Amino acid sequence: MKELLNAVKLTEKVYWVGAADWEIKSFHGYATERGTTYNAYLIMDKKITLIDTVKTAFRDELLARISSVIDPAQIDYIVSNHSEMDHSGCLPEMINIIKPEKVFASPMGEKNLKAHFGNDLPIDIVKTGDSICLGDNTLSFVETKMLHWPDSMFSYLSGEKMLFSQDGFGMHLAGLKRFADEYPADVIEWEAAKYYANILMLYASQILSLLEALPKFNFEITTIAPDHGPCWRKDPAWIIEQYRKWSVQKPEKSAIVVYDTMWKSTATMAKSIADGIISSGVAAEVIPLQSRDRSYVAAMALKSGALVVGSSTLNNQVLPPIADAMIYLKGLSPLNKIGFAFGSYGWSGEAIQHINDYLKATNVELTCEGVKAKYVPDQAALQECFNAGAALGKRLIEKIGSGDQ
Ligand code: FEO
Repeated sequence: MKELLNAVKLTEKVYWVGAADWEIKSFHGYATERGTTYNAYLIMDKKITLIDTVKTAFRDELLARISSVIDPAQIDYIVSNHSEMDHSGCLPEMINIIKPEKVFASPMGEKNLKAHFGNDLPIDIVKTGDSICLGDNTLSFVETKMLHWPDSMFSYLSGEKMLFSQDGFGMHLAGLKRFADEYPADVIEWEAAKYYANILMLYASQILSLLEALPKFNFEITTIAPDHGPCWRKDPAWIIEQYRKWSVQKPEKSAIVVYDTMWKSTATMAKSIADGIISSGVAAEVIPLQSRDRSYVAAMALKSGALVVGSSTLNNQVLPPIADAMIYLKGLSPLNKIGFAFGSYGWSGEAIQHINDYLKATNVELTCEGVKAKYVPDQAALQECFNAGAALGKRLIEKIGSGDQ
């Protein structure tokens, strides 16, 4: 069955021809409650150019949207800004269907695409500073290593002043409105931050270097067109500034208390710790892992100066959701956090040491050795939780005040 879908005209010469994935719930471990889009863009210049493709399963959607504008066989160039398969999955098929004059990718893009799809894939390499003439517009390239993979690059379209930024400045948000200003601001802010935290936080230093280098290319950017979620046209500088802020990760005056619990003892401790944190003048959010997942924790960690983690001891270990969240967070390598461990136990209480090890491996400064309660916390144990929370809040305020990161 042929899909009947339309392209969305973004500017005089640029159309969105991507796909909306309303069904996806997990993007390699990242919970995508609002689905996502795989964006591809069609530039209608003398050399008709397709920027990126989509995930394999969405090939027909891409073809249908292109066909609503032109016969796909009229496309002259394909640019692969990023080789991860949500953007390159149907590239080989598109090359077969379109038979373009040229396919462009960065040096690492060429290697990666060949590693994925075979050495006979015809790729022309473009590097930072290179540009190609499309007719009225030129398309200029900047390699953006590790945003999100070593092959990633930006392409800038001169006349339309449009930056195609692949994963950069994206978000997992399905929808057919193509501009961020058409969605509620709180949804956009949350999904952009969540995306940064879960996909890009590990690469904060490379992102800062890129943001520092970007002005030297003299791109006058009026629209940023990422490969996921809507485009930024109203105030593209806003999302660039958010990336700078998120990459610096200056500690915020807020804490998260993440826990899992067997018989509610660790949950009770979490509440007293949060009360103690709030008593110090720091905001706190309690995050039970029975109702939240690892990617929510990562997003909240980005926005918080402190990370307190609790688990009951189970079989001398932590509860599995805690191990899952901590291993995930360690991989994302958040910066400038303080925190401590807590939890109830029956006879041995190893969870505290395991959590301390996870926190240290995530470069979290420990504000105490951890708070334990045997079986069910009594008033003294809950007071200890409150005090540990209050002391953490005090340390966070000192740290923010002194600029000590
Ligand atoms: Fe959207 Fe790194 O792929």
